[in-house]
Formats: sequence, structure tokens, C-alpha cells
Amino acid sequence: MSEQPLIALDNVTDGGFAEVEVLIEGDAESLLIHRDGDGVRGFLNICPHAGRRLDWAPGQFLKSREGHLVCAAHGASFALDSGECVAGPCKGDRLRAVPLQVRDGQVFLAG
Ligand code: FES
Repeated sequence: MSEQPLIALDNVTDGGFAEVEVLIEGDAESLLIHRDGDGVRGFLNICPHAGRRLDWAPGQFLKSREGHLVCAAHGASFALDSGECVAGPCKGDRLRAVPLQVRDGQVFLAG
């Protein structure tokens, strides 16, 4: 896995999102990063409903009042701890999690 940092933690608003391009198994993928305090979670930026990106513009993600990530295409809502779709057209499906870690204030792919 790459030792290049993906982004500085400080560049992600606490409770907010960022989008970066990563190489996963040789393929360039769009990765959604969600910050929760000092921790981050990563998911592929691919909605399990119709395979569209989740953001409405690069790096611009919707969050509901309940704190769920909302797909910009058809409104599926995802729990940010598990990536599970909790409402909408793909209820019960999941985002594909990508393990991340924070070291020295920088976000890296884990592993
Ligand atoms: S592609 Fe995300 S809800 Fe349809």
C-alpha cells in the first residue's frame, strides 16, 4: 500500500468529508473520507444503488440532520459508522469500506 499521505487531517472539517483519488489494486478510485474527531473512515465513493458517485460535485457530500451521508443521485442514506444504507433505494446494502489510519496528522491507507 502507498506510503503517500492522502490528505492532512486538518484539511478535513470535523464531522465533514473529503474526496481523494487513490490507487487500490492498481486502479484509480475515488475515496470518500469522513472525519470524526481525531479519527477517519474511508469508503469508496460509489453508491451501491446504481454505482454513481455519492458527491454532487467533487468532494461535496450531503449529510442529513440525522448525521447520515446522503447520496446525491437518488437520496440513499448511509450510516457513517458502518457504511450501511439505512434508508432509500438500496436499504441494507453497504458502502465498501477502505481502512485508513492517521499518523502524525496525516491520513494514510492502512495496511
Ligand atoms: S446511485 Fe445512490 S441512491 Fe441511486
